[in-house]
Amino acid sequence: MPPAPPSKSEDTPVRVEVEDLEVSFGATTVLHDISFQVDPGEIFVIMGPSGSGKSVLLRTLIGLLAPSKGSVTIDGQDARNPRTHEAVKSALVFQAGALFNSLSVYDNLAFYPREHRTAREAEIRKKVGETLRMLSLENAADKFPSELSGGMRKRVAIARALVMEPRLLLYDEPTSELDPVMAATISEIIGSLRAELQVTSVVVSHDRDLAQSIADRMILLEEGRIVAAGTPAEVLESSEASIQQFFHPDINVQQPRYRASLSNPPES
Ligand SMILES: Nc1ncnc2c1ncn2[C@@H]1O[C@H](COP(=O)(O)OP(=O)(O)O)[C@@H](O)[C@H]1O
Ligand SMILES: [Mg+2]
Repeated sequence: MPPAPPSKSEDTPVRVEVEDLEVSFGATTVLHDISFQVDPGEIFVIMGPSGSGKSVLLRTLIGLLAPSKGSVTIDGQDARNPRTHEAVKSALVFQAGALFNSLSVYDNLAFYPREHRTAREAEIRKKVGETLRMLSLENAADKFPSELSGGMRKRVAIARALVMEPRLLLYDEPTSELDPVMAATISEIIGSLRAELQVTSVVVSHDRDLAQSIADRMILLEEGRIVAAGTPAEVLESSEASIQQFFHPDINVQQPRYRASLSNPPES
């Protein structure tokens, strides 16, 4: 008898499909005609100037915002249905980290597993310990967020998401407000997780070094529309003037609005 076809494992990374997506707030449409796919296990980077719709797109992927047209599916299931995200344990790493300031690093990591009663305390201790080690945070377990550097806080925010063993991990500006060395470290960590975990990653970022070093594929948004898509090499080497302007604001001053947006990292 031939072997049974492989069943969809609980541990496989997920596919994200966005089709003809439009998102509006009242009469204002902020995302237009957005279509792309993120393949299982891929690192997909969404870039664009401040206000171009990156965070709105991320919130729509995780089901916090509803499309006014089109669809978002995760392994074929509607992203608006909370069960879809429960099934794949989607996790969003917020720009500001959103750590609990009154809890130690250890308790920040243990918070969701305890809350969701997904594991016994002994298992939680093991998982939290492993995750702290993975992110070189084992010496920070008893510290409080206010005692940590910006880079360490970002690492704790990533660690807290990883404890839930997500199959879909979304990051909003993971390297913002970090110096270049720390930003490179965070990029490396995101890249290395691909090898260690069964996870699909979507990363919103302003950081072209991050895109270049870890993206399998990327899109560039401008005013809520995709203006470039492909591998980092394809997008970054595009000869299109507006794309060159975004990535090299110093060498082309014909469209100064990008200068302003790049020198002022977005708050949200
Ligand atoms: N809740 C909201 N209500 C109305 N407009 C919003 C809301 N959230 C975002 N917007 C608008 O959508 C556009 C895209 O915002 P956002 O996705 O946050 O941009 P960014 O690319 O900087 O992350 C902006 O013009 C912003 O003002
Ligand atoms: Mg944003």
